[in-house]
This record gives sequence, C-alpha cells and structure tokens, in this order.
Amino acid sequence: MAVPRCATMTNVTSTWTEPSNTATALLLLGRGTDPASERGVDCPGDLPAPSDPDLVARATAAKAALGDRVFVLGHHYQRDEVIQFADVTGDSFKLAQQAAARPDAEFIVFCGVHFMAESADILTKPEQQVILPDLAAGCSMADMAVLGQVETAWERFVDLGIAGDVVPVTYMNSSADIKGFVGRNQGVVCTSSNAKRALTWSFEQGSKVFFLPDQHLGRNTAVLEMGFDLEDCVLYDPHKPGGGLTDDELRDAKMILWRGHCSVHGRFTIDSVREVRERVPGVNVLVHPECRHDVVRAADQVGSTEYIIKALDAAPAGSAWAVGTELNLVRRMALAHPDKQIMFLDRTVCYCSTMNRIDLPHLVWTLEELVAGRVPNVITVDEQTAANARVALDQMLALP
Ligand code: 13P
Ligand code: SF4
Repeated sequence: MAVPRCATMTNVTSTWTEPSNTATALLLLGRGTDPASERGVDCPGDLPAPSDPDLVARATAAKAALGDRVFVLGHHYQRDEVIQFADVTGDSFKLAQQAAARPDAEFIVFCGVHFMAESADILTKPEQQVILPDLAAGCSMADMAVLGQVETAWERFVDLGIAGDVVPVTYMNSSADIKGFVGRNQGVVCTSSNAKRALTWSFEQGSKVFFLPDQHLGRNTAVLEMGFDLEDCVLYDPHKPGGGLTDDELRDAKMILWRGHCSVHGRFTIDSVREVRERVPGVNVLVHPECRHDVVRAADQVGSTEYIIKALDAAPAGSAWAVGTELNLVRRMALAHPDKQIMFLDRTVCYCSTMNRIDLPHLVWTLEELVAGRVPNVITVDEQTAANARVALDQMLALP
C-alpha cells in the first residue's frame, strides 16, 4: 500500500460541501419500484408519509415499546435518519458479529442490505428473526455472481483438471448461495478488513484463488498487499463463453477474479484523484479497496470502512482528506470533524441507492408492525445453504 502521507492545513473552518446531483434521481425515500435494480421489488404494507412530522417520535415510541426484544443494526452507509435509531453501527463484518452476539433479541432489524441480513440470519439462532425494513435493499455487486454462473465456472476448472488447486474465496458482499458454494468447496469468506489474511490462508491450501464477486478487492489485495503481479490475475467474465479465458490463461493464473464490482466505489476515477490534488494542495486521498486498481494506486491510504473511520478520527486537526467511499459516511465524518477538511473524492453525488432505500418511513413501519404483533420482511436462508455458508463464515472467523 502507498505510504500514508498527512497534510496539515491552517485556519480550516466549515469544510463540508454537498456534491452536486447527477441526472440519476434516487427513488424518493424508498417509495416506488425500480425494476432496473437488482431486486426491483417494492415494500408491502402501508408506509407512513415521509412528510409525517411525527416519524422520529413514532420510531422512538415503537422502539421503547419493544425494549430488549428488538436489536437494530445500522451499516455505516445508512442515512442519518436511520442511524440515529441503531443500537450498534458498523461495517458488514462487525454487524454480523453483533447480530450473533445478541441471542436474547427476538428481532434483529437490519438497516443495511440483503446479503448482510442473510449473513445475520445464518449466524443467529433459529428462533431469532432477521428483518430487512425494505426488501428492495439489495446489492448490485452481490447480484453480479449468480450461483448457476459460478457452478459453470467451477465445472470448467474441473474439466481442465485445476479444481483441486483452486480455493474459492468470496467477499462478504455476496449472496448466501455463493457463500454456501464456497463452504462446500473448502473456501473462505472475507471482508475488506481481512482480505489479506484470507488470501494468505487460501494460498496455504492451494496454488490458485477463485475470488468472488469483487474483482477490485481481489486484485488490489493480491497485487498491493501480497506482492503478486497484475499478470498473475485473470478476469473471469460470466457473460462470455468459458469466462472469456483460454485454458492456458486459467492454468497459469494465480488469481482468477470474478468480473464483479461495486457500482458506488467503481465511480471514482484517476481523474477525481488528480482533480482533488490540484484543487487542494497537500490533500490525503483515502479510498476503500472496492475502488479501481489505478485509483487505489494513486491514493495515499486504502482501507475498509472501519479503517477509514479510524484514520479520519485519528487525523490531526487542520489536515485535509478526500475520501473515496459512500457519501452518507463521508458526510457524517465531515460533520463530526469540523476541525478537519474532509471532502468527498468525487464531485458528483454517490450514495449507495439500495442502502438508501432504508429510510425512516420504512423503519417506523417495521417497528410499528412488530409492536402490533406482525413480523414483516423476514430474511430466511434455507437450512442446507446456511449450513454450507456457515462453514465458510466460520473459516473466516478462525483465520489466524
Ligand atoms: P464493508 O461494510 O465491509 O466496509 O463493505 C463496504 C460495502 O460496500 C458494504 O456494502
Ligand atoms: Fe453493494 Fe456497493 Fe452498495 Fe456496498 S456500496 S451495498 S457493495 S452496491
């Protein structure tokens, strides 16, 4: 990774400027359907109006009425209006751990996206129910790896006689089906904070890694943290016959990367980095490893969501930071640290639109339904898939 560099600016006062909107409008407060999105479903039930002035009071009252029966988890990319009701905030790994650590809570309300709620269901007791306040809160990256496609790729490895050398590794940001596939094939789940440890373990088990679904996290970790060459990595495209790779390319590769990416982090470009360096002399560029390889190379620091938060918390007053991750988080960090100049790496808006679907009306509706004795939007992973996925998740938790 690039050596951390830290610029100090004097007389920094108010620093946060909202990025300008793009032409792509967000669905207002999660209302309506978006057939082009990964799930394209809307939320059943009668949501309160977003303009209802009593939403905060209603959420407070419903949560108080439920008491210890409910535990609300909030991912760092959630809206402020939702985060204020979270019992704990964190990245996807920490939230999965937290869900598992609350065996007494009857209901886990997961303010995040679908794959996170699935992982929580896998790691919690059977009698606990995990609820996603809006079923349309999916993840476009997770949807880029579908089980049938992954099995087709694996059959190719079997036919080629290399499957025995390949260890499958999947990013937490994948469906339970994919985690189950990885568990069935002696692989491991990883997150952005333990990807290097997961790859180190995997290369002790075999000579190749099949990395799903985020090509960028896989490439950035292999090349920048493990010392592999870019030529050691090949890209398997599920939409091309044979993944678009020759037999020799597959035989020679050390990292077989799935062609998936995050539509939010994939927006940051090398031009964004150049532009901010010209505009803010001495700025520190801090990005998530889901960003493209050239962007990560051009950055000063790279790290998971939790790493980004710690780095900004620890930064000296007056320092300047351009951050390449989701906008809700960057804005919250900027407002929490008015003595530091924290800005968004891109000039245009970059929310995760599916994370943003969980809004206060959905949270109020969910909590009030629970108070009324109805349990909405339960996320359930079937027993066999859950058992296989648990193998890969437990392997991650056991990483040295
Ligand atoms: P983490 O929560 O592991 O930082 O992942 C980032 C992300 O994109 C979540 O969807
Ligand atoms: Fe998925 Fe990216 Fe949104 Fe995370 S930020 S939920 S990886 S689309």
